Amino acid sequence: MATKNTSTIIVTGGAGYIGSHTIIELLQQTDYEVLSIDNFSNSTPATFDRIESITGKQIKNLNVDLCNYEALEHALEKVKNPMGIIHFAAFKSVGDSVNMPLTYYHNNLESLINLLKISEKYAIKNFIFSSSCSVYGNVESLPVTEDTPFAKAESPYAHTKQIGEDILINYVKSNPTFKTVLLRYFNPVGAHNSGLNGELSKDKPNNLVPFITQSAAGILPPLTVFGDDYDTRDGSCIRDYIHVSDIADAHVKAMEYIVNNKQKNNTSIFNLGTGNGVTVFEVIKAFEKVTEQTLNYKVGARRPGDVIKIYANNNLAKQELQWEPKNGLDEMMLSAWKWQVNISPKK
Ligand code: WQD
Repeated sequence: MATKNTSTIIVTGGAGYIGSHTIIELLQQTDYEVLSIDNFSNSTPATFDRIESITGKQIKNLNVDLCNYEALEHALEKVKNPMGIIHFAAFKSVGDSVNMPLTYYHNNLESLINLLKISEKYAIKNFIFSSSCSVYGNVESLPVTEDTPFAKAESPYAHTKQIGEDILINYVKSNPTFKTVLLRYFNPVGAHNSGLNGELSKDKPNNLVPFITQSAAGILPPLTVFGDDYDTRDGSCIRDYIHVSDIADAHVKAMEYIVNNKQKNNTSIFNLGTGNGVTVFEVIKAFEKVTEQTLNYKVGARRPGDVIKIYANNNLAKQELQWEPKNGLDEMMLSAWKWQVNISPKK
């Protein structure tokens, strides 16, 4: 009988969309203890019931604001062998960040700095940071590689991710035993293939796919496509949509990569995308195809802060993490719709 691993991985934002899917993969692929820290600013405790229904395991959550250092320090005093942190907790709406920049700079940066101070206090050496393709801005050379120089951040949200990466890069320089992986997510979409977990933010969704599914379910009004006059093949913006479970799987592989000392140096950066650029209209068509329904939508004005097109060169993550995205656009749409049907009031 293998001895139980008593090391604990701390997952901030564990009740959130990507955090909860990552906890499911950690529980199913490893024998680490998993502890969530989430103050439910954009989620509810019901997420942990969903994780238990899929994995059969109960997750302990500390309801602590990461911007409150004293509360965080006290909450973590009794954690057994904390060996790593996966830091998801952040505000992530491009549109909202344009309207509330100070809220974004304070929340996203104060929480990161506090976690690094906590890592020092409790000798936690392995840190995975939830970064974003939005750090690249509007770049000409596509697909982007991890070495593509950043253009200006198009939103305060993107800027908090650029600054967050710099904080970690500079922190590692002064703490050479500290090891970090920065994961640049492209556009996480879809839901767990069981249909029992998925995206369920507290407020009206800002992102395309949950808006599509909630509009199709009659919960929200028809979708507005934010602009069809961009310089792309059909006039709508291009993104690299990637299944949330593929993103979650990459986190397990990134933690193993650090723990097994596979890093070439103490800061590794990886693009987490499929490598396929897809337009908004192509997402709508895929949704209509796999769900056999016509989506009612209209075309409106461009959204401030939107990048025109971006998609990943994901070769480095494939090669270094032995990671391979398994789900295509059809599976992303079908899993998103299956989850929406599951949580929508039965007609
Ligand atoms: C995608 C496209 C919109 C809503 C996301 C996350 C961010 C980061 C990067 C992880 C854009 C269009 C959207 C709608 C629309 N992810 N759209 N109508 O802005 O690329 O950012 O990925 O770190 O956290 O927010 O995603 O889904 O908001 O927009 O036409 O009602 O869909 O204009 O072209 P975005 P999104």
